[in-house]
Amino acid sequence: MLENGFGYDENRGERATAAADDGSREDDSGEEGFTELEELEIDLLLEAIYRLRGFDFRSYLRSSLRRRIRHRMNLEGVSTISSLQERILHIDGCLERLLEDFSIKVTEMFRDPAFFLAFRKDVVPLLRKHDRLRVWHAGCATGEEVYSMAILLEEEGLLDRTTIYATDMSRTAIALSKEGRFPLKRMQAYTKNYLQAGGSREFSAYYATDHAYARFLPSLKHHMAFAQHNLATDGSFNEFQVILCRNVLIYFSPELQSRVHGILNGSLAPGGFLALGSKESLISPQRGDFEELNQDYRIFRKRVLPSN
Ligand SMILES: C[S@@+](CC[C@H](N)C(=O)[O-])C[C@H]1O[C@@H](n2cnc3c(N)ncnc32)[C@H](O)[C@@H]1O
Repeated sequence: MLENGFGYDENRGERATAAADDGSREDDSGEEGFTELEELEIDLLLEAIYRLRGFDFRSYLRSSLRRRIRHRMNLEGVSTISSLQERILHIDGCLERLLEDFSIKVTEMFRDPAFFLAFRKDVVPLLRKHDRLRVWHAGCATGEEVYSMAILLEEEGLLDRTTIYATDMSRTAIALSKEGRFPLKRMQAYTKNYLQAGGSREFSAYYATDHAYARFLPSLKHHMAFAQHNLATDGSFNEFQVILCRNVLIYFSPELQSRVHGILNGSLAPGGFLALGSKESLISPQRGDFEELNQDYRIFRKRVLPSN
């Protein structure tokens, strides 16, 4: 939920690594070992979470949820989903732990560098006519994508006129995003991504080394606003020239994807740009409102309707 108009929560959590399961292999073909009774228990668990806290996972792909529920059952030391539900209802912190399990925060800087290259080439020239730019990263995870975009816009001379809004359903993800501090050991891979994404400067000029971390420049952060926002339950909160929602919709059922496409469409200014992940696309009825600007990298442009 969007709290206090881009409020901020100090809770901290574990950062997922790119080597973990990022959902890119998700499908809903089912997982061995779950009985009909367990499916019923999952329904009840998801209903309880929704009624308790308003987090709606009822329309997420089951394969992904089953894995995470099993994982949480092992860690909590329970053998049935109903016992997990009991802990969630009665033990402090158990629900929070499961919610964090459901949030798959795998990300990296300049992830899919060719996408960022295409963005530089195809989208940036069309953004120059705007005096003010609003960019929304929906499902920003721990922020690597947000800092990448800020660097790109800075190099293209657009950052000064831009506010980047970064949201995620996970409080810990938002807290980490705001820090802008990423493991130093990832910098070699990120430098490679940056160069492949069309970067031509010294990547290390964007961060200061702080023990085992790379702390990104405050001048990048000044253009960012962070908030908790849930695409399954919250609505639109502004109008944007660019929206990125990459590698988020893969976890959603077609019905939930359709709801989210409606929110993204409603939040885009006419002529605005929508970037999805490499395995994602727009589904009807929103499809007709967009033209595909770059088919390979899933960049869409919202059509400008002729005025009467
Ligand atoms: C795999 S990460 C993608 C991060 C980044 N966009 C990227 O492409 O590298 C998916 C993120 O989506 C977030 N997410 C999942 N369901 C969400 C929802 N209903 N509303 C907002 N964020 C959600 C998760 O918490 C996670 O941080």
